[in-house]
Amino acid sequence: MKRRLKIKPIVTLLFVVAFIIFSIIFAVRTINYHKTYEYKLLKLGYSKEDVVEILKMKNKTKDYLVSIEYNKNVIPLLNEKYFLEKNLKKYIEYLNENGRDLADTIAVINVGSDNEWYTNTKKTDISKNELMLTNKFYSLDNSYNSDNMVKISKQYSYGNNQMLTQETYNAFIKMFKAAKKEDLTLIINSSYRSYEDQEEIYNEYLDNRGEEAANKIAAKAGFSEHQTGMAIDIQTYGSNAKTFEEFDEFKWLKDNAHKYGFILRYPKDKEYLTGYEYESWHYRYVGIEVATYIYENNITFDEYYAYFVEKG
Ligand code: DAL
Ligand code: ZN
Repeated sequence: MKRRLKIKPIVTLLFVVAFIIFSIIFAVRTINYHKTYEYKLLKLGYSKEDVVEILKMKNKTKDYLVSIEYNKNVIPLLNEKYFLEKNLKKYIEYLNENGRDLADTIAVINVGSDNEWYTNTKKTDISKNELMLTNKFYSLDNSYNSDNMVKISKQYSYGNNQMLTQETYNAFIKMFKAAKKEDLTLIINSSYRSYEDQEEIYNEYLDNRGEEAANKIAAKAGFSEHQTGMAIDIQTYGSNAKTFEEFDEFKWLKDNAHKYGFILRYPKDKEYLTGYEYESWHYRYVGIEVATYIYENNITFDEYYAYFVEKG
């Protein structure tokens, strides 16, 4: 009798202690789980599959996502071809304000054209060589000149003293010869332009057409690709800026320039990314591989640069 009476309360006590311990463990686990991104995201309304994708992102991005309401565009954005995680917040804010499609939103934010032209400008990273970018957000110093410039033979150009970088010139000659085989003549109308040359050209447009029109046609000094020595304005016999796209030379360039490393730099309907009206005559040397990618994927160099060249 005496022995039985002693065991029963001990067992009961053990059960109570075990229950308390398990309860504490459960409570701590629950509290900790509630602190996780997974819990917070599920609670916001993201599906389990969405959460798996979101959890792969950086903590900074996850902190942002759990700080805002559920957003139906997050996963579709993530699956877009040129999605950059560092820009997610901007994509979402831009979409909320503009209701543009996802691919366009990504392109605009990646190239920075949600900013006013010529604001938030940076220096061109000249170490990128043939992939250096000059546009309305990236500019060259007034003293910048490639140390690899060569004079262009008069047989390829209008006027004297035209210059290009050696690589650009070599690529142009190859392209010129290939076009000649088809009885087409590519003539260099404008090539390297110094900071001062560009200033003169821009001011002329400014005086003749006013600021808004000038900005669509010409770059301000420092912001022109012509200063890189890797941009060429091409014409042919009898053509001019307005008519060049009607000539066979243009039609040939459109589908062949990339084979020689050139891209049509300011394509039709891309003014919202490049800052310039369509220029059927302006080609930029970027090398065959990059030119082919840009041609095949129908993107601008600005988009290519933001996604593939400018890291971080
Ligand atoms: N026409 C091009 C945009 C330039 O001025 O560089
Ligand atoms: Zn040009």
